[in-house]
Amino acid sequence: MGDSVGQKVAPAVAPDRVGDDGGAFSGAVQAMFDALAPRYDRFNHWASLGLDYGWRRATVRSLKLTGSDTVLDVATGTGDLAFATAKAARRTIGCDFATEMIRRARTKAGPGDRARFHVARAERLPYAAERFQGVTSAFAMRNVKPMLDEVLAEAFRVLAPGGRVAILEFSRPRLAPIRWGHGFYTRVLMPRVGRIVTGTSEPFEYLYRSIQAWYSPDEFADLLRAAGFTDVGYRMMGLGTVALHTGTKPTA
Ligand SMILES: C[S@@+](CC[C@H](N)C(=O)[O-])C[C@H]1O[C@@H](n2cnc3c(N)ncnc32)[C@H](O)[C@@H]1O
Repeated sequence: MGDSVGQKVAPAVAPDRVGDDGGAFSGAVQAMFDALAPRYDRFNHWASLGLDYGWRRATVRSLKLTGSDTVLDVATGTGDLAFATAKAARRTIGCDFATEMIRRARTKAGPGDRARFHVARAERLPYAAERFQGVTSAFAMRNVKPMLDEVLAEAFRVLAPGGRVAILEFSRPRLAPIRWGHGFYTRVLMPRVGRIVTGTSEPFEYLYRSIQAWYSPDEFADLLRAAGFTDVGYRMMGLGTVALHTGTKPTA
């Protein structure tokens, strides 16, 4: 992160302000994350109060990997979940359409790391059918909401029968006092601190709006079932602010 000191994020129109058309939305998401990339990790760990490390470990455990498995991390960003998964697998591929995010992920890879990174779109994965024993994604599904059907269909296609999917996404806490506290944190505090750290509050205001517009865990579980996954379930973490969704691609 040292080379990012002094860099500010170019203000951009937030994805949900450019209309709901898949193309325009997607272009705005890409521009936003390319601009955020130099400061993404620092902000990410700060904003989750460091809890994101534990959420990623839980995601890896939920895959029940063996050392011979290959995993795909969709919308990998700077690759933290791909690196965590690679420790339990033979190989992990992380893909993301923001080239700056992938560039940073590659700079974080050490010589012994079994994670590789590609620039690719979640809704049009450049991988053969049934290539992976696990597919993961963290905090990205809100950003592909206009083409969620295609993204889930692609995750299903590249997964081998019997393989598992594990998806982390933010949620709105059910308990009222926690929901109010979380609302204050994401709506008021994060944009202000985000502006100080990155020079723009727009991505953090978008984060709040996109969490509000996202499906409930039960609704998203239904979407996973509709995509063909079985054994679908979820567990709440971080006082109900994060859901870890899991499912299996049936063998028959
Ligand atoms: C909030 S970040 C999460 C990154 C990473 N998974 C993590 O947990 O830190 C969302 C990521 O989704 C990526 N993304 C959004 N839409 C995408 C798409 N259609 N195809 C591939 N990547 C996409 C963005 O570029 C960004 O890196």
